[in-house]
Amino acid sequence: MKLSSTLVFGAALTLAHANPVAKRAISDADILNYALTLEHLEATFYEEGLKNYTEQDFIDAGLDSTFYTNLKTIAMDETTHEAFLTQALAAAGAKPVERCTYVFPSTDVLSFLALGNVLEGVGVSAYLGAAASIMNPAYLTAAGSILTVEARHSAYLRATLGEAPSAQAFDNPLDFNEVFTVASPFIASCPSTNEQLPVKAFPSLTMSATAPAMNGSQVAVMAGPGFNTSMDMSNVFAAFITVTGPVWAPLNSSGDGKFTVTIPSGVSGQSYVVLTQGNTQATDDNILAGPAIIEVGAMTGSMGMGAVTSSSMSGKPTSTISMSLTSSKTTSSMTAGATTSPAFNEASVLMGTGTTGVLGAFIAAAAFVMQ
Ligand SMILES: *[C@@H]1O[C@H](CO)[C@@H](O)[C@H](O)[C@H]1NC(C)=O
Ligand SMILES: *[C@@H]1O[C@H](CO)[C@@H](O)[C@H](O)[C@H]1NC(C)=O
Ligand SMILES: *[C@@H]1O[C@H](CO)[C@@H](O)[C@H](O)[C@H]1NC(C)=O
Ligand SMILES: *[C@@H]1O[C@H](CO)[C@@H](O)[C@H](O)[C@H]1NC(C)=O
Repeated sequence: MKLSSTLVFGAALTLAHANPVAKRAISDADILNYALTLEHLEATFYEEGLKNYTEQDFIDAGLDSTFYTNLKTIAMDETTHEAFLTQALAAAGAKPVERCTYVFPSTDVLSFLALGNVLEGVGVSAYLGAAASIMNPAYLTAAGSILTVEARHSAYLRATLGEAPSAQAFDNPLDFNEVFTVASPFIASCPSTNEQLPVKAFPSLTMSATAPAMNGSQVAVMAGPGFNTSMDMSNVFAAFITVTGPVWAPLNSSGDGKFTVTIPSGVSGQSYVVLTQGNTQATDDNILAGPAIIEVGAMTGSMGMGAVTSSSMSGKPTSTISMSLTSSKTTSSMTAGATTSPAFNEASVLMGTGTTGVLGAFIAAAAFVMQ
């Protein structure tokens, strides 16, 4: 493979030269199966949500019939993506991965939509981050045509939930392992016949906050199982991942894997922060934990597209995220839970819903972590 995702950005390129051993060999079939893994997750998420909640439930939550119809279209898009990627893999002589079993900690319409909103943003970042690794131009165009639709889903849900539909001029690309870190807590187990993809999850990084963050504000984050709390914290840094490379953020350690990050200028919308060893790069070679997902920027209010009113949002119970952070400490180093997923954490911040007592089962993320 001549082209690699690292070739696109100067900072990463420097690293690739510095440590060629770390270069990932990932085939187009792997990438399509990686995309299919995400589409399975999204398709199942909407399928379950539309079974769990009726049109009336959405209306009672402050949405309308038009929104419900559009949501069903979004769900159908995801199952169509699933079928498309499955066919493309089969046509290429590769074995498509099958659906796994999932745990989604949604408890009501608004927490369901908040999580869907974050997952759509992750989908955009995943396709964007994978693009430069795709060799076959036909697959690249196909992936691009899915990416643009995921971006439209994201904009629609963001606007509905009172966030800026396009918060900044460039979306943030996430690399394979970064996406996996965010997605794996939702995956309980997969068929043993599924191909083992060459991706792994970093230790999780979850945020404890109760409001969307603004630049200049501090947010508390905590690294999950697998993060070495004995290491020299003066060499640990925080980087926001952007298309132009890492944006470094002031970081203070308060011990036990807990940190405060100051949101830097130049990031907004659905943002991703990782902890790194050293501050020259933020790649697979030196990421220690994360990404944590942080929504940066003010709530903009509705756009009149069946948007949730601010009163129906502010009426939700306040967050108990700090409790879920505490509970994550007690899990073994090989487990993680959907309720402590950075994605769910961010969704909870958005909707102000509790993260504990939502779901008893902690799941073995390791089952889906493939070295
Ligand atoms: C749907 O409800 C089931 C049963 O309560 C729950 O396990 C699942 O996580 C829910 N899924 C979504 C997406 O709301
Ligand atoms: C937030 O970002 C804006 C625009 O870049 C900048 O003018 C402002 O000084 C920033 N505020 C803080 C506290 O960093
Ligand atoms: C954690 O960091 C300490 C201090 O650098 C080191 O001695 C130890 O071996 C590390 N533990 C693991 C599991 O890497
Ligand atoms: C980190 O701690 C130092 C010393 O207590 C303080 O001066 C600095 O403002 C803190 N920075 C952040 C980002 O909290």
